[in-house]
Amino acid sequence: MAGAQVHTCKTIDPAHANHHGALSAGQLLKWVDTTACLAAEKHAGFSCVTASVDDILFEETARVGQIISINAKVNRAFTTSMEVGVKVTLQDPLTNVEKLISVAFSTYVARPADGEKVTLKPVELLTAQDFLEYTLAAERRKIRLDHERDFKNLMQECGVNDEHVCSNEEDAVSTDLTHIQSIELVLPPHANHQGNTFGGQIMAWMETVAAISASRLARFHPTLKSVYMFKFRGPSTVGDRLVFNAIVNNTFQKSVEVGVRVEAYNCEEWAKGHARHINSAFFIFNAIKGNGELFTFPQVKPTTKDGLRRYHEAIARKKIRFPRKCVLLRKEADYIPDPWDQTNQENIINSNIAALTIMAAKPGWEVTSTLDRIKIFTLEEDALAIKVEMQVQIPSELAFSLLSDFTLQTHWDKYYLTSRIVQSVTEDDKIYHITSPLVSGNKSNDFLILVSRRKPRKTGDPFIIAVRSVALPCVPPFNQNHCRSQIQCAGFLIYSNGNNSLVSYYNQGTPAVTSYFVANFTGLSEYTENTASACIQFLESRTATSTLLH
Ligand code: COA
Ligand code: ADP
Repeated sequence: MAGAQVHTCKTIDPAHANHHGALSAGQLLKWVDTTACLAAEKHAGFSCVTASVDDILFEETARVGQIISINAKVNRAFTTSMEVGVKVTLQDPLTNVEKLISVAFSTYVARPADGEKVTLKPVELLTAQDFLEYTLAAERRKIRLDHERDFKNLMQECGVNDEHVCSNEEDAVSTDLTHIQSIELVLPPHANHQGNTFGGQIMAWMETVAAISASRLARFHPTLKSVYMFKFRGPSTVGDRLVFNAIVNNTFQKSVEVGVRVEAYNCEEWAKGHARHINSAFFIFNAIKGNGELFTFPQVKPTTKDGLRRYHEAIARKKIRFPRKCVLLRKEADYIPDPWDQTNQENIINSNIAALTIMAAKPGWEVTSTLDRIKIFTLEEDALAIKVEMQVQIPSELAFSLLSDFTLQTHWDKYYLTSRIVQSVTEDDKIYHITSPLVSGNKSNDFLILVSRRKPRKTGDPFIIAVRSVALPCVPPFNQNHCRSQIQCAGFLIYSNGNNSLVSYYNQGTPAVTSYFVANFTGLSEYTENTASACIQFLESRTATSTLLH
């Protein structure tokens, strides 16, 4: 049979929500864990324990009266462990609108009551989707099992050591103010029939202390945006005392990372002070002010050697969160481009421009790197978007003319090997076929994109060059040389600044772009920075020849 599946739905009652009527993330984590564990046990035929939950993102806030629907499916069985994929959606009974809240991948290990080691039966693959998830499960397993080693290597490569200093801003807040400790006694309702504490219960307790810690900085109620991996290092049972320690590790303008460490003691261990390390995880919160804007967190200053190490490790985790999302969550895989035909051309062109404008106006952009004339921002709310701001010493009209001709991108973006116009829809809307150099294996990526450009309607508005994928039968996505990549939303906004321009490039993480980042876990800013420098150089060197081109 195919991977075991379990579905559950819940109405959100006030008891599940905070005082604003929003579903508590801890409650959701409990439901997700229970549903996924039931799927794992259905496949295994034995009791299972939670080994880990990969990075999890929360895309929407659910509210009292709405309905949560959770679908869990076993993607792959290894030897004693299984990966379970969980999809959480939200339905509003009044509007019937359905939204995705989260996709999570958890690993469960079969633990029969007699303690014997089992070999699980394989999952039968019936559909192409089953096969895809089965293949990706192996990729994700490698990332989760190698994580500790990879992270240590990353920290060594970054060359961060104890001598590194943190922000010396005068008004930086001491992280000591955010230290929280909390104790829970594990009772029968917190455990399964074998007396093992439910993983979901521990995650919920962790989320509570993390949120209290974050609130010490925000003075607003923090909203959980994501968690960087839960790893259950050892079991805990009824009667254990669980001690939760939380502290803010670092802040990033609109978000804050709180780390939580959980230790367990049974009665004897408690008296002797012998702790068992059960779990550590890192929570990312933001806080929404009364007017709907995101709160800007103050910079923080650790006061201990460990605090300083965690401060730098939080920066490293932030850097790799983006490529991890690409691999673990495959966000971009869901995007299917609209077919380009006579009936919908106008709609596609309008939505191309609108999507870029909306993405640029989002409030959550955070600076991740600042160079001389280049600033890189990321947007985490809407998954995998980057913005690269470039100060260019040429007039905006000229920058617009050079950047909107996508046949010229091959001069500065090494991801563009060839670029040709397939269809000139209008003077300002063209469809291009782009090919990229080989990244790995013997196939390279190609794109079929609509490029729509618009001049400002009034002074102060930007020049717009919007890009998105389309589907055209004359350039089919499958051929022996290329693998089609999709761009959901990308492009440039160019603002005039006297004789200079401020060029902002946007991209909502496409596999083609992100594969560069993923190939080199620390390479996010390096690739982007190099491309941005090449773009500036290209634009400025073209001043003399540009009149010949246009
Ligand atoms: N993420 C995913 N899988 C993991 C893992 C992790 N962090 N750590 C271990 N595993 C997998 C191994 O790959 C192995 O899978 P396989 O048999 O399919 O190849 C399986 O778990 C067992 O690994 P093994 O090395 O034999 O055991 P271990 O001593 O590392 O124990 C756990 C792994 C998860 C069983 C153990 O750490 C544990 O009991 N944790 C607590 C689980 C629990 O009680 N959770 C509920 C809340 S406390
Ligand atoms: P690391 O120190 O490598 O981050 P730990 O498992 O020791 O790993 O801790 C995980 C997180 O829990 C830390 O990053 C920190 O935020 C928090 N933490 C750990 N120990 C304490 C403590 N004694 N007091 C407050 N917070 C703690």
